[in-house]
Amino acid sequence: LNYCVPRTRKEIFETLVKGLRRLEYRGYDSAGIAVDGNKKTTTEDNGKIVLIKKKGKVKALDEELYKKDCMDLEVELDTHFGIAHTRWATHGEPSALNSHPQRSDKNNEFVVIHNGIITNYKELKKYLISKGYEFESETDTEVIPKLIKYVYDNRERDDLSFSTLVERVIQQLEGAFALVFKSHYFPGEAVATRRGSPLLIGVRSKYELSAEHIPIQYNSGLFKEGVQDKNSHNRPDKPDKSTAVNSAGDGKAVEYYFASDASAIIEHTNKVIYLEDDDIAAVVGGKLSLHRLNSLAGEDSVRAIQTLQMELQEIMKGNFDAFMQKEIFEQPESVFNTMRGRICFHTNKVILGGLKDHLKEIKRCRRLIMIGCGTSFHAAVATRQILEELTELPVMVELASDFLDRNTPVFRDDVCFYISQSGETADTLMALRYCKDRGALTVGVTNTVGSSISRDTDCGVHINAGPEIGVASTKAYTSQFVALIMFGLMMSEDRISLQPRRLEIINGLKILPDMIRNVLTLDNKIKSIADELYQQKSLLVMGRGFNYATCLEGALKIKEITYMHSEGILAGELKHGPLALIDKHMPVIMIIMKDACYTKCQNALQQVTARSGRPIILCCQDDQEMSENAYKTIELPHTVDCLQGILSVIPLQLLSFHLAVLRGYDVDCPRNLAKSVTVE
Ligand code: G6P
Repeated sequence: LNYCVPRTRKEIFETLVKGLRRLEYRGYDSAGIAVDGNKKTTTEDNGKIVLIKKKGKVKALDEELYKKDCMDLEVELDTHFGIAHTRWATHGEPSALNSHPQRSDKNNEFVVIHNGIITNYKELKKYLISKGYEFESETDTEVIPKLIKYVYDNRERDDLSFSTLVERVIQQLEGAFALVFKSHYFPGEAVATRRGSPLLIGVRSKYELSAEHIPIQYNSGLFKEGVQDKNSHNRPDKPDKSTAVNSAGDGKAVEYYFASDASAIIEHTNKVIYLEDDDIAAVVGGKLSLHRLNSLAGEDSVRAIQTLQMELQEIMKGNFDAFMQKEIFEQPESVFNTMRGRICFHTNKVILGGLKDHLKEIKRCRRLIMIGCGTSFHAAVATRQILEELTELPVMVELASDFLDRNTPVFRDDVCFYISQSGETADTLMALRYCKDRGALTVGVTNTVGSSISRDTDCGVHINAGPEIGVASTKAYTSQFVALIMFGLMMSEDRISLQPRRLEIINGLKILPDMIRNVLTLDNKIKSIADELYQQKSLLVMGRGFNYATCLEGALKIKEITYMHSEGILAGELKHGPLALIDKHMPVIMIIMKDACYTKCQNALQQVTARSGRPIILCCQDDQEMSENAYKTIELPHTVDCLQGILSVIPLQLLSFHLAVLRGYDVDCPRNLAKSVTVE
């Protein structure tokens, strides 16, 4: 929303579309935009909202925008509020009609964009239909604009504010949502709110933002607007601070950006406010105010304006063809950044600042439970063994959805880790709430400062890998891996018997970035293997011990972006089933590194070659025996056993990338998937 910042409509379109492009990794089956109509046309049209929606990627919407000849692109607007959305279908197929913004009626009186799921939409829809409202889409979201129109049409007073209408609407909603509302009746006003799905506000002003906080107005008066409620928690010790943001309404130029994550707005401002569940943010006359739907005693009465460190350049593709490729090649730096300032290579001390105050409590726990989804779950699998060794505690690794399905027993003396690149994955967040309710200590391991998981956990580690845009996770995995190992090192600092092992690992970590650089030089070789494999239907990846997680993660990469069938197989299980798949046609990759499982892996290799299998083997440099038995080898530098998985996953990341390119697919936006799955 630009207030007293003249912008042409073209600039407004460009800002919205650019923001969508940056968020496209979250979903990309359709996109839409709503802006005020052209004021120069007929008087009836004055202020009427124009909706433009298109199936497909943001590019398709972008092209569509300029086809609207009724829109004057050069007209300058002093105050303007536009909304845009890119969708990942949950209810209703991808189509222009199902895409957002969804609207209240044919005149577009209220329009809404939504991230999340409304679980009680059927009941609401039935009720609204009984009141004569007609629905046009198959989405759950459509009940929201219809409901706000219903509330508006049935209001008891004419002077109800836009945010009051929104408050009444969200009281009726169940499920998860981040919502932004625009209305024909409240031109130049914006209202946004969230519950369960992330939402932030970027603030850009020519004027210095003198305040660090925006005060919250409690009980903003659902039915008693403007009246100070004596029972409210508007604590007198926190007086309303007058802020630059608040005073922007005094005719000062300010722009507000509402977005699901910071990558959409970082090129405009690095000053952001993260909204909490049930916060309602309203901008009226260029003045931002925050309200709470239900205020509880002891809640913060302010929201901080934070300054983000993220650089625009970090979310640009640079010279690479795809974000995924860029992110694979960034791994020497990203793992370095995970370790930066946390490991002292002279004293062999490891300090994770976000955990140190809870270390005593963690050491006293009954067990560690590592919870995640997809790649983040694999990071837990990858480090389980070394964590068991270094912490001498039982370590459970859990897929968040299954953990919840099982109603897993959790106790006060458990320590539960939530591993999540985005920090927003709905399944992982639900598992967090589940464990919090049972009194366990909760630890976040995320890559996104300000994300729900990093805010809702008792303590945690930021992996500092930098923004990851490619849907298939790469650098976040290796950084999660390193962060969890650092946790193990921190836990074992005072165990004398473990010192030689710690030293070995710390020395391994020191040269890890160089070793990754070395592995990345294999790119051409891997490309030539991809040339051979790309027309295959299936690809098996086999290994055990410290490299089992690499098999799971490699197979996931291949599935995600090449759409080939791929399975990560524990070599120990080979004879219990997967061996039946082996013949001379089935492509098999085996990971056989010089560690405690070497001999057992050799047995598996014999079983494969005895069935005419032709394995491509990922092995240590100069392993003569492997070269003799393999169809092809990919030789990796040898490192400490528990770190080897960081190196062995990289050839598989590269292989999946090349396979996807050769098969002609969009590497960064695989079909049917989204980067951040904020629905259960
Ligand atoms: C989605 C993504 C995966 C990711 C998983 C967990 O499925 O497509 O790449 O591994 O979510 O995401 P998180 O952000 O919690 O690590």
